[in-house]
Amino acid sequence: MPCSTPAHSGPRSEGVTRMIVGVPREPAGETRVAATPATVRQLIALGYDVVIEAGAGALSSFSDAAFTEAGATVGAADDAWGADLVLRVSGPAPGDIDRPKDGAYLISILAPAVNPKLVDALAERDITVLAMDAVPRISRAQSLDVLSSMANIAGYRAVVEAAHEFGRFFTGQVTAAGKVPPAKVLVAGAGVAGLAAIGAASSLGAVVRATDPRPEVADQVKSLGGEYLPVVVDEQAQQSSDGYARATSETYNEAAARLYTDQAADVDIVITTALVPGRAAPRLLTAADVAAMKPGSVIVDMAAGQGGNVENSVAGKRIVTGNGVTVLGYTDLAGRLPTQASQLYGTNLVNLLKLLTPGKDGVAVLDLEDPVQRGITVVRSTGDGRGEKLWPPPPVSTSAAPVRTPAPEGRPEPEPRNAMSAAAKTALVLIGVALLWLVIAFAPAPLPADFTVLTLAVVVGYYVIGKVHHALHTPLMSVTNAISGVIVVGALLQAGLDLPLVQVLAGAATLLAAINIFGGFAVTRRMLAMFSKGN
Ligand code: NAI
Repeated sequence: MPCSTPAHSGPRSEGVTRMIVGVPREPAGETRVAATPATVRQLIALGYDVVIEAGAGALSSFSDAAFTEAGATVGAADDAWGADLVLRVSGPAPGDIDRPKDGAYLISILAPAVNPKLVDALAERDITVLAMDAVPRISRAQSLDVLSSMANIAGYRAVVEAAHEFGRFFTGQVTAAGKVPPAKVLVAGAGVAGLAAIGAASSLGAVVRATDPRPEVADQVKSLGGEYLPVVVDEQAQQSSDGYARATSETYNEAAARLYTDQAADVDIVITTALVPGRAAPRLLTAADVAAMKPGSVIVDMAAGQGGNVENSVAGKRIVTGNGVTVLGYTDLAGRLPTQASQLYGTNLVNLLKLLTPGKDGVAVLDLEDPVQRGITVVRSTGDGRGEKLWPPPPVSTSAAPVRTPAPEGRPEPEPRNAMSAAAKTALVLIGVALLWLVIAFAPAPLPADFTVLTLAVVVGYYVIGKVHHALHTPLMSVTNAISGVIVVGALLQAGLDLPLVQVLAGAATLLAAINIFGGFAVTRRMLAMFSKGN
């Protein structure tokens, strides 16, 4: 049910009206801004006019002049708040709720699940409110997932803050003056922030360990240079159907507590990022664990704003415990890299506006049939002076990894849908052996020998390729495609025969094999480009 907010502004030459996007200044303490000169250009390409409040980008190093050069108009606060779409990082303060005009869109981070009063107050207004932090975690919505883009920056910054407080090398060194051991870092929770922290700490040379209730993250931890520490308990992986973690069981928590106690006494730095959406942060490190840490150790509790993973942490504060452990509870880690955080946040917004502006005509159209747009819609403008509260949205079942539901007690586990039964496998093998025997016994030479080689190649290839890790399938395929070169050689040899049908077939085989070869190399090239540092 698409509902288009009436366009209010700037008639275009063709008679179509385009909406104005407004970017007001953020409140004190927020260093980020909702648009950058680069994203302003993208908004204009979508057909919008853009007005930026003067000085909105100052704390993230974007000058008014840079915005003007990108095509925006720099104006007063009322110009930005009075736009058709108001883009912000922070949700509105009570005094700001009346500032957007009727029918406007207000798009920002809102935490609607923990701010019911704010949601109710916004629903009093005839506006459409979209929460950027409510994007469902599904592949299609990744490009607008603000929680991920900010957690990635924050995880990196957590390591930088820890390194600053630690006051020692992260990397180990052997020098003429003696040996320096590497720092040991424990990362608790290997989601977006945790993985970013693991990557940053291991690239600084630390020995990094990480733990998470979801065992499937072990490979990701290893690929970033960390060691995965499993908490061994006899239960299913802790992931719900929406791609987020589930709360852990008592058994798990007890086993994890022992792991944290052992690790706290051994490591120099702990970065905690454990989160189960919709709940207070799980408590991982007790005051006793912190008291057992070495003097000079550092803890960054990234979940301090949600109640804290560490008993001693205080949201927004740096404290030093009696035994000399520094505990950082900063809640503005992404904002401590404001230029890049603004750029990524602004790009998330542009990607949302691409969804809202299918015609690229500067007219936003909200499609509530789309689970992504529905998921972030907190209030919808009705046109009759009040908004319609649409929070909470219906759940989106979007598991990145399918969740196995255990079979009811007493019943056997169902067979996977496309699994072949043992009897069918045996029958297939017997048919294959019979066919092979028929060919060897009755076909003229050299067919039996060639057929035997082909059969063995198929069997060996099946088992070799079947053992290759999924992550390597694409590069493997792109290179093995090049083996199609053999087909080209064969086809060229046949093309010399004076038979039109053979020549046509040889031409077709050469063409198809060449597509396979060049396509394979093109894929490889694209993949390698993803890993090269663009200079
Ligand atoms: P995420 O959902 O991607 O990852 C959370 C991870 O915690 C998941 O891998 C989950 O399996 C794991 N987890 C859940 N229960 C656990 C337990 N009992 N023990 C160990 N791990 C457990 O979340 P994301 O985006 O990585 O954010 C992590 C935390 O960082 C959140 O609390 C978020 O609010 C916070 N954050 C803090 C910022 C700051 O400035 N301090 C900035 C951005 C995010």
